[in-house]
Amino acid sequence: MIKKKSRIFIAGHNGLVGSSVLGLLKKKNYSNLIIENKRNLDLRNYHNVDKFFKKKKIEFLIICAARVGGIMANSKYPTEFLLENLQIQNNLLTCANKYNLKRTIFLGSSCIYPKYSKTPIKENNLLNGKLEKTNEAYALAKIAGIKLSQFIYSQYGKDIICLMPTNIYGTNDNFQEKTGHVIPGLITKFLKAKRNRKDVEVLGTGKPLREFLHVDDLSNAIYVSLKISKKKLKKIFDSELPLLNVGTGQNISIKNLANLISKIINFKGKILFNKQFPDGTYKKNLDSRLMRKLGWSPKIKLKEGLEKVISKRYQKVKRANR
Ligand SMILES: NC(=O)c1ccc[n+]([C@@H]2O[C@H](COP(=O)([O-])OP(=O)(O)OC[C@H]3O[C@@H](n4cnc5c(N)ncnc54)[C@H](OP(=O)(O)O)[C@@H]3O)[C@@H](O)[C@H]2O)c1
Repeated sequence: MIKKKSRIFIAGHNGLVGSSVLGLLKKKNYSNLIIENKRNLDLRNYHNVDKFFKKKKIEFLIICAARVGGIMANSKYPTEFLLENLQIQNNLLTCANKYNLKRTIFLGSSCIYPKYSKTPIKENNLLNGKLEKTNEAYALAKIAGIKLSQFIYSQYGKDIICLMPTNIYGTNDNFQEKTGHVIPGLITKFLKAKRNRKDVEVLGTGKPLREFLHVDDLSNAIYVSLKISKKKLKKIFDSELPLLNVGTGQNISIKNLANLISKIINFKGKILFNKQFPDGTYKKNLDSRLMRKLGWSPKIKLKEGLEKVISKRYQKVKRANR
């Protein structure tokens, strides 16, 4: 059972998810939170990771470190997306097993389910069909991470939970147009177009439906997963590795999302859809009933979450332009 003094390593604490988890655990008064910057501990280096685990006497591990990016970054750097994610997760999961951690949380992603999964996607859809080409490398690495977790769980009896979050957005996101995900990418485009009195080009037809979850809701799901008793987990999963979708169950089209962001920003130009650009899967929302059974539910509505993120981004851009 996790205690306020448990030694918890948040790998990737500077990222979107990691920073939110760190903030939440601090707020809940966990006093032994272990973090390390990439320049001091590159998680691709096994030797250093092993030394770090030994020295820090880690008890709980939350793996928020990964090479993450949008469609463009994924299609341009498949080698790095596959290799770096395999290296990071192999090293961390190997040490979690070697040093007998009390619990490890590994994050998969909704985008690693097969391209033509029936929606809402259930956890047992994993590996049931062909992957989406644009993020194949990332998906293969994440699937290997889930399988490794499953093997360590069943072969060595170690406590690992895998969460499968839907598309996440939040304040500490990557707001670069070219490498970021859809929400931060769109926010950047709209803010720039407003400043320069230009129109906005959205990639694709705008028709695909997507599900978005605020990062603080994901941190809460991670928190629930850290605290849940083995007994309760056993009741639901028996001898299977706990694999749990984390989503809102709500879809929005990219067109409506662009309109919503445009309205919040008070953008007056035109929104143009570049239909030459591939749309990806048409619909991709998760069935998150299992996670809800553990006592979690999302609290932040999309409009409210976007308003928060945009207002913080506005201030940051304003400060940078002064
Ligand atoms: N964002 C989403 O929409 C989404 C959706 C589903 C699942 N997830 C999963 O959630 C997890 C976190 O994603 P995120 O969006 O928070 O990503 P992120 O913002 O890019 O954060 C990733 C973190 O990993 C760190 N990192 C990367 N390579 C490293 C290395 N070699 N050594 C040490 N640290 C390294 C980064 O450090 P630096 O900051 O120093 O670069 C950063 O802090 C990932 O597993 C991702 O697959 C994310």
